[in-house]
Amino acid sequence: LTEQELWDQEQQRRAGSSRQKKKSRYDVSDEDYVFEDHVDFVRDAMLLKGKDDVKKGKKADLAVPEIERSSRDSKKLAKLTAHEELLAVRKKLPVYAYREEFLEAVQDNQVLIVVGETGSGKTTQLPQYLHEVGYSKVGCIGCTQPRRVAAMSVAARVSKELDVVLGREVGYSIRFEDCTSQDTVIKYMTDGMLLREFLGEPDLQSYSVMMIDEAHERTLHTDVLFGLIKDIARFREDIKIVISSATMNAEAFSTYFDDAAIFNIPGRTYDVEILYTKAPEADYLDAAVVSVLQTHVSQPPGDILVFLTGQEEIEAAVENLLERTKALGARIKELLICPIYASLPSEQQAKIFEPTPKDARKVVIGTNIAETSLTIDGICYVIDTGFCKQKTYNPRSGIESLIVTPISQAQAAQRAGRAGRTQPGTCFRLYTKWSFAHELEENTIPEIQRTNMNSVVLMLKSLGIHDLLHFDFMDPPPAEMLIRALEQLYALGALNDRGELTKLGRRMAEFPCDPQLSKAIILGDKYGCVSECIIVGAMLNAGNAVYYRPKDRAVHADNARMNFARGGGGDHGALLRVYKQWADADMSTQWCFENYIQAKSMVRARDVRDQFAGLCERVELELSEASDVEALSKAICGGYFYNAAKLASSGEYKTVKQMKTVYVHPSSVMAHEEVMPKWVCYHELAFTSKEYMRNVLPIEPDWLCEIAPHYYQTSELKDSRKQKMPKGVGLAAGRGQNLPS
Ligand code: CDP
Ligand code: MG
Repeated sequence: LTEQELWDQEQQRRAGSSRQKKKSRYDVSDEDYVFEDHVDFVRDAMLLKGKDDVKKGKKADLAVPEIERSSRDSKKLAKLTAHEELLAVRKKLPVYAYREEFLEAVQDNQVLIVVGETGSGKTTQLPQYLHEVGYSKVGCIGCTQPRRVAAMSVAARVSKELDVVLGREVGYSIRFEDCTSQDTVIKYMTDGMLLREFLGEPDLQSYSVMMIDEAHERTLHTDVLFGLIKDIARFREDIKIVISSATMNAEAFSTYFDDAAIFNIPGRTYDVEILYTKAPEADYLDAAVVSVLQTHVSQPPGDILVFLTGQEEIEAAVENLLERTKALGARIKELLICPIYASLPSEQQAKIFEPTPKDARKVVIGTNIAETSLTIDGICYVIDTGFCKQKTYNPRSGIESLIVTPISQAQAAQRAGRAGRTQPGTCFRLYTKWSFAHELEENTIPEIQRTNMNSVVLMLKSLGIHDLLHFDFMDPPPAEMLIRALEQLYALGALNDRGELTKLGRRMAEFPCDPQLSKAIILGDKYGCVSECIIVGAMLNAGNAVYYRPKDRAVHADNARMNFARGGGGDHGALLRVYKQWADADMSTQWCFENYIQAKSMVRARDVRDQFAGLCERVELELSEASDVEALSKAICGGYFYNAAKLASSGEYKTVKQMKTVYVHPSSVMAHEEVMPKWVCYHELAFTSKEYMRNVLPIEPDWLCEIAPHYYQTSELKDSRKQKMPKGVGLAAGRGQNLPS
């Protein structure tokens, strides 16, 4: 078919798509998809490039590793202990065959780019190899991960492989959770944590090797790390740098690191057949669920991996699947349904790695976390919806939102590759071949070019890097974004008018949170409510997972939530009351249950609060406590004054600076108030069908004049008569009733 004919067909399909869509799904099996393409994921042999080619045959003066000694023949496998079995599994990984070459390459090159398919063993094995030959005797072996979940689960896996207790020799460090000790020699951490470590140790002196893993993900923090690491490599000749990535863009990394050598680990992967839908799917969520069932009933054994965009979607899909499989009862084989997303409790996360029992099939439903950072064995079918959630940032409006966006072609290839790890597999793409070719970008835009840079700029400034416009970024962010960040930090008082870090800015940088929140905490000192500020900060950090709202008891749950709102202070006040009452109830789970609160989030919030408390001590902030909610409101407003909005008409707000129309999110306690406050300040915007403010705090315009006179002109804050307070809500009303003294 010519391009034109394909195009014509595509148009026809699109025209008839709604008719075709539902009809064919269930009863037709394979014909539902057109076989279109073939992806061969097998890579060529090891390729080396760059100035220092690895010398073959050079005998390394390395100790014989433990792993060598435990080789047994397969007949005896059944008698092996669990740990020996793990060792046997290690030896089967593709990287194992290249162990010696890898170690030699590290010895010969200060910076080494390692490329290999996901699942070949880079993350779990390479740090162990380095440990086995003694790099850990000189310093710690660090390995960064873009995701918390990955850092935790990989550290757990490696500690098991080494047969040690997690947190001792092998540990992990993620924001608000440090699971390492004096003995830790292999340390997995999020890229954000390593960035933070630079503040205390600008030359990374305690590390002998630093592996920047999942480099292809190009997160904001990884990109900034590149610049810092490249600099360190110049003056610390003894440090070894490993940049590891899935098979994407290796050349670009090499070029950036002054033509560093590339070490290619040939994958042992199988063909993946790629099938597209004939017509675009109107509802990809539904299509994904149906495809799972269809695959389950019609395809040979093998587990399924589904890519969706976020927790809510995943939960909906899980629920839907449970319902449908229940209805089908014994007519189908057992289907184990395992969700995976970043905020899933870890014991549930572990479930996805458990081997599937015979006669059953496992379906893992996840976000793009399962694209490269986690490897699940036994997957033969991938269902790719073609979407993911991506942060976008508009520097002009200063608005950052998380939006469901089409994935890139490179991501699509990664997703498909998950099906061919252990045997030939199939990838069902729930989009057309046409849209793959014409609507998907080739590569994902690095996060640094589409995100709010405030935190990172504050951190770089604290590291003494002044000229950000000329910082050696692999792909520089648009100048506009940097300037915007500088402006906002100036407005917060973290930088002076020459762009230099102020004393306040230095204190703000101590807190591992966005600069607005750290500013609010520090302002808490002025208003005498540091204690409340860190509680609210910790609760906000728990995200949208504080309140529990089961469908069948939604009314009760909403009532419970509104009880917390009584006493003013909007969502922030409510979160404070939730925490305080929980603390008064001895942090009991029973209390959470009775009040429709998620106990796990509370425990997490407590840990975060405690960390904040420790940091306050470090920057000499007394944990003052206020008796009314106004102090808290003022402090929060002082950090988030940028997010002020004014009531425009019923239910509709306009942001003060950009005059953007925004709405109160239905989950906010303010959404249920009879009288809307005239002025509010929001924590963040979320874009779904409309631009929604999440976590809304009523404020007074006078506060804006007082707190940010350099930012707001009085004219912008006209109509500053006292705002109406919602019926029955006064600061005093809540005090006796809800706020434990
Ligand atoms: O980093 P890369 O994608 O190359 O592979 P890896 O994460 O080191 O995974 C190597 C092997 O370890 C895979 O077969 C995984 O199934 C296994 N693994 C695991 O069982 N549990 C984890 N938490 C991580 C990896
Ligand atoms: Mg990995």
